[in-house]
Amino acid sequence: GMMREFSGINVMEEEIRQRFTLRKVVIVPGDSDESPWVKEELGRATVLRMKEYLAGNNIIAVTGGTTMSAIADQLTPGLTSDPLLFVPARGGIGEDVRNQANTICARMAERAGVSHRVLYMPDQVSEEVYASFVKEPSINEVLSLIQHANMVIHGIGDAFTMAKRRNTNEQDLEKLQEEKAVGEAFGYYFNEVGEVVHKVLTVGLQLDQLATIPNVIAVAGGASKGKAIAAYLQSAPPNTTLITDEGAMNTLLKGN
Ligand code: G3H
Repeated sequence: GMMREFSGINVMEEEIRQRFTLRKVVIVPGDSDESPWVKEELGRATVLRMKEYLAGNNIIAVTGGTTMSAIADQLTPGLTSDPLLFVPARGGIGEDVRNQANTICARMAERAGVSHRVLYMPDQVSEEVYASFVKEPSINEVLSLIQHANMVIHGIGDAFTMAKRRNTNEQDLEKLQEEKAVGEAFGYYFNEVGEVVHKVLTVGLQLDQLATIPNVIAVAGGASKGKAIAAYLQSAPPNTTLITDEGAMNTLLKGN
């Protein structure tokens, strides 16, 4: 990056890496809340890491959101010469079509010139309906591919921003308030000490499986996400690579 020669960012990267026991931290200059090009830089930095980590028979599970969409924008054919398949990490979690994991997954695969699978699970249905969906062979096959992912790329959101953006019902909103939810990642909501206080009912990757996946890349930036990122990182597994920006990390470090 253009500011690598200034050691401030490198010092900050190492500080965050050690504080949360992460595999690697990459901080891009700027604040993606302020400038859209910083989000593009998050996308570029993520694609560089993906290239470094891809090996063998690759299945990449991805979540949704605007940051994930910025990563898709930076993908080009020739990501790897090895087999590569994109799958959505989890079933529907109430997002608008453009922000859904299925959509991001399809766009990533299209841009990289590789295959993908989608997971059509309805949002907010009863446990019985879920149970019968999971038995459908076409869904079951995708779920099994997700279980074999060797890379996961996910966003991190501010808890209330995400809860409002999804059609979260009144009861769950109250629960999030009472439990002081701060951050969100792939449908799990965390309080400031990293405890899960709420989880969207859906299939696919579950939080406790993340630690068993060789490469986990969490991507989130912007000053407004500093606290959310800190909350999530309290429970992030040590195989996590964080790609973030200065705006987010300045807020995070101020809030200690
Ligand atoms: O789970 C986190 C959200 O998907 C983040 O969404 O990238 O649009 O802020 P965003």
